[in-house]
Amino acid sequence: MYLDFLLCCNQILLQHYERNSMYTIKVNFEQKGLPPIIVETNAIGDSLLEIVLDNGHELHHNCGAVCACSTCHLYVEKGDEYLAELTDKEEDFIDRAVIPKINSRLGCQCVLQKGEGVIEITLPDQTQFNGE
Ligand code: FES
Repeated sequence: MYLDFLLCCNQILLQHYERNSMYTIKVNFEQKGLPPIIVETNAIGDSLLEIVLDNGHELHHNCGAVCACSTCHLYVEKGDEYLAELTDKEEDFIDRAVIPKINSRLGCQCVLQKGEGVIEITLPDQTQFNGE
């Protein structure tokens, strides 16, 4: 009985936490003429690629977001701790990206984890790529 009560409380707290998790994502663009945008989201489990696309901005994703290309390459300036961890496979593809840096990630692999905070990213100039 007591255990059921604790499990129920835990479930309520978890739901409250997930509903109230909120990220502020600042997106900078290397492409000239595009001012930064701010996105407020609680889309835990979505990738930065999905969030950028859902907000009407272009980020190439030639492999369909399965970590098999490097066209969704971006730079994470702040908030890397809120994203799924970098894997060896992702690192391999980052090495093939145009101008990789120490803060390079693949947008399709940057899945928002539970939590809240500020994430800042910079998108390479998308006009330099062909494809989706
Ligand atoms: S879309 Fe191909 S690795 Fe992200």
